Amino acid sequence: MSKETVLISGGAGYIGSHTTVALVEAGFDVVVIDNFSNSEPSAIEGVEKILGRKIDFMEVDTCDKEALRKVFEKYQFNTVIHFAAYKAVGESMTEPLKYYQNNLVSYMNILELMKEFGRPNILFSSSATVYGNAEVLPVTEQTPRQPATSPYGNTKQIAEDILSDCCRAYEGMWGIALRYFNPIGAHPSALIGELPRGVPNNLVPFVTQTAAGIRECLSVFGSDYDTPDGTCLRDYIDVVDLAKAHVAAVRRMTSGKMERKYEIFNVGTGSPLSVLELITRFMDVNGVDVPYKMVGRRSGDVPAVWADTTLANNTLGWKAERSIDDTLRSAWAWEKHLRGIQ
Ligand code: UFG
Repeated sequence: MSKETVLISGGAGYIGSHTTVALVEAGFDVVVIDNFSNSEPSAIEGVEKILGRKIDFMEVDTCDKEALRKVFEKYQFNTVIHFAAYKAVGESMTEPLKYYQNNLVSYMNILELMKEFGRPNILFSSSATVYGNAEVLPVTEQTPRQPATSPYGNTKQIAEDILSDCCRAYEGMWGIALRYFNPIGAHPSALIGELPRGVPNNLVPFVTQTAAGIRECLSVFGSDYDTPDGTCLRDYIDVVDLAKAHVAAVRRMTSGKMERKYEIFNVGTGSPLSVLELITRFMDVNGVDVPYKMVGRRSGDVPAVWADTTLANNTLGWKAERSIDDTLRSAWAWEKHLRGIQ
């Protein structure tokens, strides 16, 4: 029997590269496309080194529909995982059109070509950002979405709605949205990981760069929240565990197990960690110092959000497995690999 093939857009990115590895290890064939707008060819090299073989890769901008069409013409696949998108919340506030153009046009191109070529399954990268400042925690998939507070967040909500509408309207289209919480860490080989450009926006890359001496001091945004230690609570999900959630979702789609045309799953650990807890844990497990100072709140941050993962656990048969200590070790191993630190 021939293997199922999965098209992965944005497969050179942080989550895309880990998912590519996980899918191939699980026995799928992959076709990876990326335009390297926020990633590097070295990610593809890292993936191939881990797998010990070449993968099918094409440098394609998903906003370029004719270039994308060639991928659909060349390869037979039933499933698409669509990662390719911009993701900086702050930048989306100052450049909303860049976000709406890139994130929605690329997505529309994928959906239109799937419909035209009769390719049935799409897995969309959504985000816990859709929950906003939830009243009841942890959040379940039934927790009402809050109005988006950034154009980035709005692209995720709009994309979820488009998928819901398409799956309802088109008999041959099936969709899953995975709502990621806070992905962190790196592959245990330290051959792939997060590659932030410029000053990192996210906590863990800033922590690892500060530990490496690239940044002088980490700013902790807000210490007066109504949380146990005053800093924000998040659900930090290991990127390899997150990649495995994609494998479980693809299996569900390709084996005809979906109960509805469009399904949504939270992908987190179910356990909250504060910013301060994460920093001290990182220093403890890695034996490195991370100078930090408390500063004012960052605008747009919610005090706390973490996942109820019951649905993903029971329906996808998936569960986060890697310990936070191993995840934080892998984040530091990756930073050391990047900087050539022994
Ligand atoms: N933080 C700091 N200092 C930093 C960076 C972050 O204290 O230098 C704090 C933030 O204030 C927040 C926590 O660390 O309390 C996590 O911040 P991140 O920027 O790492 O992550 P967010 O929770 O803000 O956002 C992430 C993704 C978004 C996604 C969102 C969903 O980056 O894409 O989760 O909840 F939309």
